[in-house]
Amino acid sequence: MRVALVPTMGALHAGHGALIDQARQDADRVVVSIFVNPIQFDRAEDFERYARVLDQDLEFCEKHGADMVFAPGVEEMYPAPQKTYVDVDEVSQHLCGAFRPGHFRGVATVVMKLFQIVQADTAYFGEKDAQQLAVIRRMTADLNVPVRIVPVATVREPDGLALSSRNQRLTAEQRRAAPVIYRALEASRRLIEGSCRDAAKVREAGLSILREEPQSRVEYLEVVDEVDMQPLARIAGRVCIAAAVWMGETRLIDNVLCEAGE
Ligand code: PAJ
Repeated sequence: MRVALVPTMGALHAGHGALIDQARQDADRVVVSIFVNPIQFDRAEDFERYARVLDQDLEFCEKHGADMVFAPGVEEMYPAPQKTYVDVDEVSQHLCGAFRPGHFRGVATVVMKLFQIVQADTAYFGEKDAQQLAVIRRMTADLNVPVRIVPVATVREPDGLALSSRNQRLTAEQRRAAPVIYRALEASRRLIEGSCRDAAKVREAGLSILREEPQSRVEYLEVVDEVDMQPLARIAGRVCIAAAVWMGETRLIDNVLCEAGE
């Protein structure tokens, strides 16, 4: 029997739905985990404010055909202070890793725990969180974890904004402005598709669009290789253009993938 795991932190939306649907197609049993993981939050206030809507999430999982929901409490996942962590070097270093100390260590550790608990054959992760996906892929390869990692394409609103539970926190004005992130990433991608291989130029194309939007404050926009998430000077191979942008008090991330050839 093939068992699939979809790890989530709840507040489920159509992005999570795409992961569950894909798992449903591939496997005999689909397990969704819902756990707001305290050790991956770099700001306590962000952890406390995270939306918790379990009843609504259970209904959502049922509608998407999940067989089981695993929704442990914090004491159940961390009965004693955690002394063992999974650190994925290098892949965790840049982008979000540089701005959110300990974040990927918290993600990799909880995902490893979930893998051990659920004993799934496959696990589904969104491309929306490209660095997280790269970290989990590297962790499973380096530690011989017998779980196949399946990527799922980013689900977007019609105006391009990537679905995220954080979108609910945007004011009407910020929500109107937020699609600028995807527009900036697409402008950068178009340059690469038009044969530009100079990462500085590609970054500048995206950054200049973000700067035009007064609602936004850029944390980073980088061109990295898809596997190790290392910033590139000259673009080659499969690359990821990734950005983190603050809209007021809300931090949004997004990325696009692109094949640059040689
Ligand atoms: P969470 O933010 O709830 O996301 C759960 C999964 O849904 C992740 O794999 C994420 O990439 C995917 N996802 C979110 N928005 C998406 C979208 N618009 N399109 C496609 N997929 C999307 O990521 C986490 O939780 C946690 O870090 C977790 C892996 C559960 C570990 O705690």
